[in-house]
Amino acid sequence: MIVLDLSEIKEVCRKISDSINSVVLGYEKEVKLILVSLLSNGHVLLEGVPGVAKTTLIKSIAKTLGLSEKTVVVDGVPYRGFSRIQFTPDLMPSDITGTLVYNPQTREFEPRLGPVFSYIVLADEINRAVPRTQSALLQAMQEREVTIGDKTYPLEIREKGKFFFVLATQNPVEQEATYPLPEAQLDRFLMRIFMEYPPSLEVEKNVYRLHMSRVKEPYEDLEPVVEAPWIIKAQETVATQVTVPEDILEYITRLIRSTRPQIFEPAADYFELGASPRAGIFLVKAAKAHAALRGSSEVEEVDVEEVLFSVLNHRLIPSFEKLVEIEVKGERHLARYKLIKEGLDLIKKTVR
Ligand SMILES: Nc1ncnc2c1ncn2[C@@H]1O[C@H](COP(=O)(O)OP(=O)(O)OP(=O)(O)O)[C@@H](O)[C@H]1O
Ligand SMILES: [Mg+2]
Repeated sequence: MIVLDLSEIKEVCRKISDSINSVVLGYEKEVKLILVSLLSNGHVLLEGVPGVAKTTLIKSIAKTLGLSEKTVVVDGVPYRGFSRIQFTPDLMPSDITGTLVYNPQTREFEPRLGPVFSYIVLADEINRAVPRTQSALLQAMQEREVTIGDKTYPLEIREKGKFFFVLATQNPVEQEATYPLPEAQLDRFLMRIFMEYPPSLEVEKNVYRLHMSRVKEPYEDLEPVVEAPWIIKAQETVATQVTVPEDILEYITRLIRSTRPQIFEPAADYFELGASPRAGIFLVKAAKAHAALRGSSEVEEVDVEEVLFSVLNHRLIPSFEKLVEIEVKGERHLARYKLIKEGLDLIKKTVR
């Protein structure tokens, strides 16, 4: 196996972020977290109100990796570089994974592969499809393979440089005709990342300036920075070359355990249910990828802290009573973020 220099990972990822940040303004931190997820081979749920460039951000990532709707054949199976699935109430599981279709000429059933056969899948507005359809995607994410008829196809072929990265978007405001993902399924996502409104008047003005005299979307002009198989090499490098010193491992374990009210009583003020060992495993992986983005082969406390909220926020069940108490101007989702942030801040202070 070829491992890369950590300095190369740092450099390439900086170029990718610079490209994306030049067409989607004001989300430097979010872009970094998405790269952390990609390098830890984890999927992302992007949450934000309509019109904050969620879809555009994801398309920009595909562009910088040179992935388009064009297909690449790996081991005889055609995979698209990038596919977007618009989730709607009438979307069926087979619209995601694929199905067998009858060919009258050969009088045989042949597989028609669905859009999940892709390097990057944008699952847009995932909470608008019915749970059965959501499950089809979530299962494919978990298993990294799909069965059609009696044949099972891999969605990830590491030795051939084929990765599988799902980015789902959803609107946090629970509108009519949406089906919120159940907690147990949210757990399939390495991170849930929030995209808020542009951070300042200056940035927002620049967004308008960027679009002012263009017909096309700015991201359409992005050039590829690396080829897709590089991502697999980078993932392998992070997994094998970045280490977690004993004191940092202890710190992570203490953090995770302190989110559990039965272990750390004050956590009960914030959380009904704390983080699972699976959450802890993901936290370690994400912290390692964050260290790699700094070009470092050793995880430090700052790496853990920078990814903590995004890795844990969708796995902690906030205290219902406290939620009602702090509800921010009637916006339930803002109260949820705030409560989880406060709870994690308290835990960080106690554990340090
Ligand atoms: N911060 C930003 N920088 C650059 N362009 C932006 C920014 N915010 C919004 N835009 C532009 O606004 C438009 C809407 O973006 P996009 O469709 O990606 O939003 P969305 O979050 O996916 O919305 P929806 O939830 O409705 O699908 C696009 O043309 C996008 O380029
Ligand atoms: Mg969108």
